[in-house]
Amino acid sequence: MKLLAALALTACATASAAAPKWHQLETYTFEQYLVDFNKQYPVSGLASRRSLFDKQLQSVRQHNAGTSTYKQGVNKFTDMTPSEFQMHKGAKRSARPMSINEISHNELLQTIKAGDYADEIDWRKEGVTTPVKNQGGCGSCWAFSGTEVLETHVAIQTGKLIEMAPQEFVSCMPNPDECGGTGGCEGATQWLLFDYAAQNGMTTEESYPYTARDSQCKTPEPVANITGYVRLPTNDYDALMAATQLSSVAITVSASWGAYESGVFNDVDACGFELDHGVVVEGYGTDSTSGEEYWLVRNSWGTSWGEDGYIRLLRNGEDTVGTDTNPADGVACKPYPETQEVKGICGMLSDSSYATGGYLL
Ligand SMILES: *[C@@H]1O[C@H](CO)[C@@H](O)[C@H](O)[C@H]1NC(C)=O
Repeated sequence: MKLLAALALTACATASAAAPKWHQLETYTFEQYLVDFNKQYPVSGLASRRSLFDKQLQSVRQHNAGTSTYKQGVNKFTDMTPSEFQMHKGAKRSARPMSINEISHNELLQTIKAGDYADEIDWRKEGVTTPVKNQGGCGSCWAFSGTEVLETHVAIQTGKLIEMAPQEFVSCMPNPDECGGTGGCEGATQWLLFDYAAQNGMTTEESYPYTARDSQCKTPEPVANITGYVRLPTNDYDALMAATQLSSVAITVSASWGAYESGVFNDVDACGFELDHGVVVEGYGTDSTSGEEYWLVRNSWGTSWGEDGYIRLLRNGEDTVGTDTNPADGVACKPYPETQEVKGICGMLSDSSYATGGYLL
């Protein structure tokens, strides 16, 4: 029997084609779950896993029987403890303004007048997004979301879509002010990554493969560079709409959505505002069935989670306002603030950034 620690990683890497959908869970069992998600536990650990699974499955069924318009399902997280699930997040926000290499977002707003937006944007349709990735059991969401924005930005600028390496940033990027954590698998922020990339360039996944572990930096061979990046004004709906016309955008959220399967996620209360995860806005639109407006958000938990690795988050301007009561535990740079006001569902408008001036070396 394999040990649990090793399994936390293998479970992440394995997407199951046989996973059931939300309407097939009436008779679903823990035994079938173990098979579908390729999970193996020592006999001594089975009972506690079963109990975690049963509790979560019951909660998923209850949710789906209610009036909510989005659906929950079972996935690799269903039998995890809250702290194991936490390991699959790990990006954060800084409360401190940043200026190095930053261009004025006002220039952008002048170019793209508010309201002058496309009805719908989906950067996937432009062929400038790489396949969904899986960060595994390492708090490297900041490196994944940052890298994914770099990939798309370089593709938009140069016509070349290249799979870049989150591991380069996990292993090499310093984080002296402990922004969003102490670095590597222990967290950082995406704008720090853009700042680092603007000095050091970036390398390919092929030459610096992902290991989901902290390790010593091996000097990478850069293949592309950026001239700078933009940090959007915080909690600004129009700013994010404008930026999405130009680029995919890295955002920070409270990712209390482990059981999400499909639909527009609109449960403001369930999500909360304790920012702990980095993801990417790759567009927005309006759901044809419910009429709900949504943000198209790419996650880094593999394709078996959500809508092929994506979640659609309710897009309701700045109507949702909340307080992150523990920025020190997930989001800020030192000295950590005590609280921070955040807007948008799951606090998604609070810290957005994207790369500028990409070119191939
Ligand atoms: C990336 O560009 C910056 C200037 O914007 C430059 O200082 C740096 O050397 C470049 N890095 C590489 C690897 O080309």
